[in-house]
Amino acid sequence: METKVWHMRDHISEQDLNEIKEQFEASELVVIPTETVYGLGGNARSDEAVKRIYEAKGRPSDNPLIVHIHSMTQLDDFVEEVSPEVRELMRAFWPGPISFILPLKAGYLCKRVTGGLNSIAVRMPSHPVGCRILQYVNLPIAAPSANLSGRPSPTMFQHAFDDLNGRVAGIVNGDQSEEGLESTVLDCTTYPFQIARPGAITKEMIEAVLPHSVEGKSGLKDGKPIAPGMKYKHYAPDTPVTVLTELNHTISNDKNWQHTAFVVPKSLQEWVPNNGHFISLCDDEEDVKAANHNLYRILHDLDTEDEITSAYIYGFTHQPKAEAYMNRLMKAANQEVITGDEL
Ligand code: TXA
Ligand code: MG
Repeated sequence: METKVWHMRDHISEQDLNEIKEQFEASELVVIPTETVYGLGGNARSDEAVKRIYEAKGRPSDNPLIVHIHSMTQLDDFVEEVSPEVRELMRAFWPGPISFILPLKAGYLCKRVTGGLNSIAVRMPSHPVGCRILQYVNLPIAAPSANLSGRPSPTMFQHAFDDLNGRVAGIVNGDQSEEGLESTVLDCTTYPFQIARPGAITKEMIEAVLPHSVEGKSGLKDGKPIAPGMKYKHYAPDTPVTVLTELNHTISNDKNWQHTAFVVPKSLQEWVPNNGHFISLCDDEEDVKAANHNLYRILHDLDTEDEITSAYIYGFTHQPKAEAYMNRLMKAANQEVITGDEL
């Protein structure tokens, strides 16, 4: 399949929007930029489109998709009920990087989109290009991250292109995603709510709006992941990665670090051995936002650098804000952790 590319960094033309709308209406797939990661979009009402999403990604069909909207009024079509509490959170955080799992009203969306569940995850993104497309197309758009299953999510056009060129009708180039990690997924089908997947919107931020509304332990219900997606191996680059904590003295130059990358905050660069490769993760040990923004790009870059055969990536240990970052990094590292002292 020939994949068309639309460049929409600065200017969005009516003609481009029309072409994209036609593709969605024909149940074809178009990759769109969002502020979290690029999304592999298809019409959530079309069984054919949703089938194509699973095929293009190579994704297990029991892993449900997030539906993207541009207006709260769209919810009435396919959500049974939005409680006043959930509405308050939507007002506080939408458009933005949080998805809500809500009771599904059957009959409007195709069944395949929820993988047979009777709940649905919904998000209203804030990316100006992504938003404009959703408004113009005016369909509920199912969109998982635009990577092949098991690969890091794309935060840049080029990464989405590398994974999906030839597998989708089109890809929209909308620059690097601002947030860089996938949305927080909040299960609102029970109360207190539960975080099924950590993201930029943290428990603390939610509870600043609705005190005591979030269950303490995120991710699990009866010992099983709430989000089926969390049970799969995920986000793994080909380059073996180890999480590096407690870096507070110089790592010896005695070992051969020639093919090793040290991905750490700039403020810790002085401890990196000068025969290794320093890659800047963010400014300092407080700078979680930049680390979120950069992580997936760096995981991609590691695989394209022939010089680099393994990497140590900095782990934030005392930062509640870093829950999403650590969740993704620990998976990329297959839970391998080492301290600066052990190197
Ligand atoms: O930031 C994001 O959320 C991105 C962008 C494109 O919006 N999308 C994304 O989608 O990350 P995806 O499909 O890669 O991840 C969706 C996650 C999966 O872990 C899935 O299992 C979970 O949400 N999920 C979706 N619907 C669910 C439901 N009804 N119940 C429980 N988990 C659900
Ligand atoms: Mg994904």
